[in-house]
Amino acid sequence: MTTQTRRQPTDFIAARVRDQAPSPTLAVSDKARQLKAQGVDVVDLGGGDPDFITPAHIRQAAIDAMNAGDTHYVASPGIPALRKAIAAKLLADNGIEVDPMGGVVVTPGGKQALFEAALALIEPGADVLIPEPAWVSYVPMVELAGGRAVPVGLDPDDNFRLTSEGLEAAVTPASRVIIICSPNNPTGRVLVQDELQAVADLARERDLLVFSDEMYEKILYDGHTHTSIATLPGMAERTLIFNGMSKAYAMTGWRLGYVAGPKPYVSEIEKVQSHSATCATSFVQAAGVVALTGPQGFIGNMVGAWDRRRRALSTGLSHVKGITCRPAEGAFYAFADLRDTGMSSADAADFLLREAHVAVTPGAAFGASGEGHVRLSFATSDEALEKAVQRIGDALGRSG
Ligand SMILES: Cc1ncc(COP(=O)(O)O)c(C=O)c1O
Repeated sequence: MTTQTRRQPTDFIAARVRDQAPSPTLAVSDKARQLKAQGVDVVDLGGGDPDFITPAHIRQAAIDAMNAGDTHYVASPGIPALRKAIAAKLLADNGIEVDPMGGVVVTPGGKQALFEAALALIEPGADVLIPEPAWVSYVPMVELAGGRAVPVGLDPDDNFRLTSEGLEAAVTPASRVIIICSPNNPTGRVLVQDELQAVADLARERDLLVFSDEMYEKILYDGHTHTSIATLPGMAERTLIFNGMSKAYAMTGWRLGYVAGPKPYVSEIEKVQSHSATCATSFVQAAGVVALTGPQGFIGNMVGAWDRRRRALSTGLSHVKGITCRPAEGAFYAFADLRDTGMSSADAADFLLREAHVAVTPGAAFGASGEGHVRLSFATSDEALEKAVQRIGDALGRSG
């Protein structure tokens, strides 16, 4: 008999998980939900979910597939029809050639694709450059894989522009990967040619892989266009593209995404998927084929509605004391600058929830350079946004 003292529940929690905070965006939604449960009329601008239902022809495709018996495991990297549709889409929309058999893995959501790639391609101890403000899950994913997340802080007074100088200052001999996201969550920025070039130059010179998160590529305003970094000279061989159906096809709940790129990397990601999720849901993949190959007009209608709301939100907020809000160039978030109010982003988010009953995400959740800002999702109804602007103005005052 050993005299070892009994282990406490916390002794069983792996440090890599214990040291992670739950998703701050989900935390905002939880707080908003609690208030709603108490009967408070909360306008929730915290989430990142299109306020549209998936188009009928896509829903029907899933029902038809299910009724036809498509209810079994499928090939781990995805059904061939979907992998082919993804490869055709990448060629037609982005000018990128990938082999559907070996260069694409269909995953249960784009988030899962990123996580599997982190496990497959980030060696414990490796540095991963993350220009920020950045989506909340990159840092935890890198750390769960054993890597070290190295922030590249972007300057709000320079419109969060990505520069060679900023990248050079952050890169180390241990750097292996850089993660970029355009259109960006949370800033709404779309990377322009010289910014993409700066990343490409660094990646080639320092021999880095690029994880290019292109989830919001279809959601663009004011004539902005999307260029995948994989199309820059010498970049296809070192870029992994992450995308999915969640945002463009209003399919967040279906969980359908993918990673595409060079076979030597994608095949290792496939290994991780085969030992974890096995495959994305069979009939959801059938619907994914219809999403990619069917009529695309729905996207323009949805983006048109968000464009209207985006303008209304930034115009409305520009009349509120202490707030500056540039209209987003892409995605569906306004990243409002509240530095003139003197509040930290967490205090501002608490204040707006308490006093205005509007739920927003504190900018610091997206990294230190998001401090002084809050993220407001405009993927919600015109009425909700109007109400939010009115209440935020009532709470902070108007500048005329
Ligand atoms: C920047 C970014 N990347 C990836 C994802 C993952 O999306 P999904 O897992 O729904 O495909 C999201 C979702 O909010 C996102 O904002």
